[in-house]
Amino acid sequence: MNEISEPVILSEEALCAFRNDVMSGLKKYPKELQSKYLYDAEGDELFRQIMNAPEYYLTDCEMEIFKGQCDKMVAPLRDLKGGLDLIELGAGDAAKSYYLLDCLMSQGFDFTYYPIDISANIINLLTEQIPARLPGIRIKGIQGDYFDALQKTVAISSRPKLVMFLGGNIGNMHPEEAINFCTELRRNLSSGDMVLMGFDLKKDPWIIFNAYNDQGGITEKFNLNLLSRINRELGADFDIRLFHHYENYDPETGACKSYLISKTDQVVTIGEEPINFSQHEYIFTETSQKYTTAQIDAFASGSGFTPLLKLTDSKGWFADVIWRAE
Ligand code: AVJ
Repeated sequence: MNEISEPVILSEEALCAFRNDVMSGLKKYPKELQSKYLYDAEGDELFRQIMNAPEYYLTDCEMEIFKGQCDKMVAPLRDLKGGLDLIELGAGDAAKSYYLLDCLMSQGFDFTYYPIDISANIINLLTEQIPARLPGIRIKGIQGDYFDALQKTVAISSRPKLVMFLGGNIGNMHPEEAINFCTELRRNLSSGDMVLMGFDLKKDPWIIFNAYNDQGGITEKFNLNLLSRINRELGADFDIRLFHHYENYDPETGACKSYLISKTDQVVTIGEEPINFSQHEYIFTETSQKYTTAQIDAFASGSGFTPLLKLTDSKGWFADVIWRAE
């Protein structure tokens, strides 16, 4: 999907929110930037490179689950065969969901696929490409952020729903945020609706650490791109050679965190405003939370769902679960 790398011009409103979030995050102590801002066109491209890095296992593991076990996913959906709306939050290129769509079609499910993505470009591509690969599929793409778009979809749909949230994206939330997210998701659904979510699992800490600290330095570039993006869009003067990527995985909490470390005492100007950095001071940029299967089950019951199915890849590194809204 080369089209995604075309420059995306932010609306005045989005640019203003970006500026406010960056300024308030860098005036805090300790400093932080929100991980959602890692994904501009350049960041999307670097993330695609991360997915192809030998150390980054998440995508391969989840792809293995979707390639090999869609028949198992379809089983708990059997009751919805006569009419189902399938909503995917953050659909991206839908490379994994494609296998489930294919399986639902070949088993004669009556369904409409609603991919939701923040990128209008991605939605346009999907509504062209998916029907070309799966002739006869009903697809209605929706551009927007998760809950806005989910509410829109819920408003136009009267059928039972399956909401998919894949890729371990929930990992970018702190556990308390994730439980709030699941609770909010439940509030938008009716009893009997289902969700299909991907979670990255706790495993050998070195495997996790290396996935976010690859030898090729792509993750470092991805993280540093956030500073370049601030230069490009907010007229800042970060010298990215004066910062480096630092990764930490804590096996106790399951939090894998990325930081940018200032190599020296320095002053960076954003717009007109100076921001001071001390040598070794960090900016926290992203968390990727890892869970145990017991924690995932506790999430379900804590937010009003009943776990129905848990699938893992052959290494047991990643889990996709299906829950039913109580
Ligand atoms: C897109 C959130 C699944 O946390 O593994 C990868 C993002 N950041 N390497 C993840 C990411 C650095 C990724 N997710």
